[in-house]
Amino acid sequence: MDSIVVTGGAELHGDIPIAGAKNACLTLMPATLLTEEPLTLMNAPRLSDIKTMSLLLQSLGSEVQMLQDGKVIAMSSLGPINTTAEYDIVRKMRASNLVLGPLLAREHQAVVSLPGGCAIGARPMDIHITALEAMGAEIELKDGYLHAKAPGGLKGARVPLRFASVGATENTLMAATLAKGTTVIENAAREPEIVDLAECLTKMGAHIDGAGTDTITIEGVDRLGGATHRVVTDRIELGTYMLAPAICGGEVTCLGGTIDLVGAFAEKLDEAGFSIEENARGLTVARKNGRIRAVDVTTEPYPGFPTDLQAQMMALMCTAEGVSHLEETIFENRFMHAPELMRMGADIEVQGGTATVTGVEQLKGAPVMATDLRASVSLILAGLAAEGETRVNRVYHLDRGYEHVEEKLSAIGAQIERVPGV
Ligand code: UD1
Repeated sequence: MDSIVVTGGAELHGDIPIAGAKNACLTLMPATLLTEEPLTLMNAPRLSDIKTMSLLLQSLGSEVQMLQDGKVIAMSSLGPINTTAEYDIVRKMRASNLVLGPLLAREHQAVVSLPGGCAIGARPMDIHITALEAMGAEIELKDGYLHAKAPGGLKGARVPLRFASVGATENTLMAATLAKGTTVIENAAREPEIVDLAECLTKMGAHIDGAGTDTITIEGVDRLGGATHRVVTDRIELGTYMLAPAICGGEVTCLGGTIDLVGAFAEKLDEAGFSIEENARGLTVARKNGRIRAVDVTTEPYPGFPTDLQAQMMALMCTAEGVSHLEETIFENRFMHAPELMRMGADIEVQGGTATVTGVEQLKGAPVMATDLRASVSLILAGLAAEGETRVNRVYHLDRGYEHVEEKLSAIGAQIERVPGV
């Protein structure tokens, strides 16, 4: 397995292009199942998770073509459609569960393996199941697969979610576009990726109101058509690279970034002592003079501080002046990067859902292990700030979520290289 070797100490200067959002693309792709006409996505990120979704859709009978080096995804799902999503593909990525709603809407049946993904908690599917059941689906779990059917088709319903789950909101939203009657999703997730999905579905002919708020109303239609849609900017990649000059010093412009995508996160960076400027090219982040100030962070559904930036923020806090508390409320097991950061000299104590980080003057390079997608990149950020060499082993998770990470960071002055595994 490949490793990434980082030598710390260099200040970072220059531009980093930010890709289209992985999490938006992963929910936009299954939308192809809702129409027999072509669906084309522009500004797609080049990531292994996107390849996994493409394999899954192909296994269901969709045609998926990667054009322009993977930046454009041209899909067509004319049929016939196979309604079984096999374990071998689904286990690689939790977002595979996003075919459930579209398959039920189109074919009135689906057999979907329970998903895999990052090992950051239990991540059950109960919210998805309850929502689709409210719309008339009958779902049972057999042999590790969800067997779902909706004889006569899904029906519009009031769907209150017990928690604002991103995936359950997306599955319900897609399913409701072709249901009979009106669906109202209450306590819906409000993430920009959901707004992006709703915009694309609207271009396809869906009737959706309220995406981006906690109540989404969908009037079902008989059929959806094709569309061409540009994937929204990846706010997690944006936040991650905003941290690079923050942690190492220097000034970097994240091209295509906008402040509205990273509001709560940007407020914390401001509190920690960084300057962030929105301009026509993107967001420019610079480290002001002096040490980083410790700040407290609690992860929350959007528009709160994103759980997907918690590990990276912890890397920053490791060398801050003072003590910071990072509270994780979304996933129960998302501090696996903490012991790895401690190998680099960080002072961290984890108790339940809170990590207490006491800043040290300097981190020291060390061999570390990447445990999940965002943990991997937090170790790279820490390595960029550390004295000496850090080798991040087991980086396959990184390739699921960050395209060309070594090239993007070396272009702004980082000393980073990929060492192929044997
Ligand atoms: C999405 C993102 C992921 C991000 C997460 C939270 C994608 C592809 N992934 O994941 O990067 O970290 O949102 O912002 O978009 N839960 C249940 N039952 C359910 C569904 C979820 O208990 O049926 C729990 C999960 O275990 C987790 C929490 O709800 O603790 C949040 O999950 P959810 O919002 O559904 O996240 P994902 O859609 O899986």
